[in-house]
Amino acid sequence: MKKRIIAFVSIIVVVVAAIVGFNVYRSSQRNASENTSTSSNSSAKVKKNGTVTRKGKNGKVLVVYFSRTKGVYGGALKRGNTARVADFIQEKTKGDSYEIVPQKDYPNSYDATTKVAQREQDENARPAIKNALPNVKKYSTVFIGAPIWWGEYPMIVRTFIDNVNLNGKTVIQFTTAEGSGLGNTAETLRKAYPKAKVREGFTTEGNKVKNDPSGVRSDVNKWLNGLGY
Ligand SMILES: Cc1cc2nc3c(=O)[nH]c(=O)nc-3n(C[C@H](O)[C@H](O)[C@H](O)COP(=O)(O)O)c2cc1C
Repeated sequence: MKKRIIAFVSIIVVVVAAIVGFNVYRSSQRNASENTSTSSNSSAKVKKNGTVTRKGKNGKVLVVYFSRTKGVYGGALKRGNTARVADFIQEKTKGDSYEIVPQKDYPNSYDATTKVAQREQDENARPAIKNALPNVKKYSTVFIGAPIWWGEYPMIVRTFIDNVNLNGKTVIQFTTAEGSGLGNTAETLRKAYPKAKVREGFTTEGNKVKNDPSGVRSDVNKWLNGLGY
């Protein structure tokens, strides 16, 4: 009798272990198919597919941007400074646009954001992007815009750059900042895409976007006219 009970309990244990193990495996497979990492840095996770935020008629131009409304120098905004510049570029070029959205949002306060950003830079991190990356095959020109964080593109833009090959295309940087201008964004793009044509970028002060958006719109239009748009 005792032997039978032991045998019965053993069977139950094996069956329960198999069910739990299968569920753990299934959930890990689901996570793997939702995320793909093409970078050598395993923390740079981005979802598959290809989405654009806004669609224009041009079809050849993509405006990529990262921008924040909270944790911004000078207080919260309705629309981020760089996002507004991206809007102006998108309107003028009639391109599509794509927003880089972080998997883990940055803090709401400016001071806390500067600390996180500093740490990411020190660690050469590649923070994960939440939304699907755009399929860039059909675009011949890609604008890449962001606020300057500690003198350069925020590291999440580097996640984008590592995962999206723009060699052979025209790549143009734009930034908003409170004094650093374009920082080292041109060098970053040239290094990442040695076979791309990196053209003259645009920068303006975040404060100016906030206080004089129509002035910035006309600065953007002048710059784009100079580039032939
Ligand atoms: C983490 C962090 C670091 C920053 N570093 C710089 C900097 O090095 N140089 C600079 O001029 N502005 C710096 N700024 C200011 C932003 O570049 C500026 O406020 C920008 O317009 C914000 O744009 P957004 O609303 O698109 O995020 C920094 C802001 C943050 C939050």
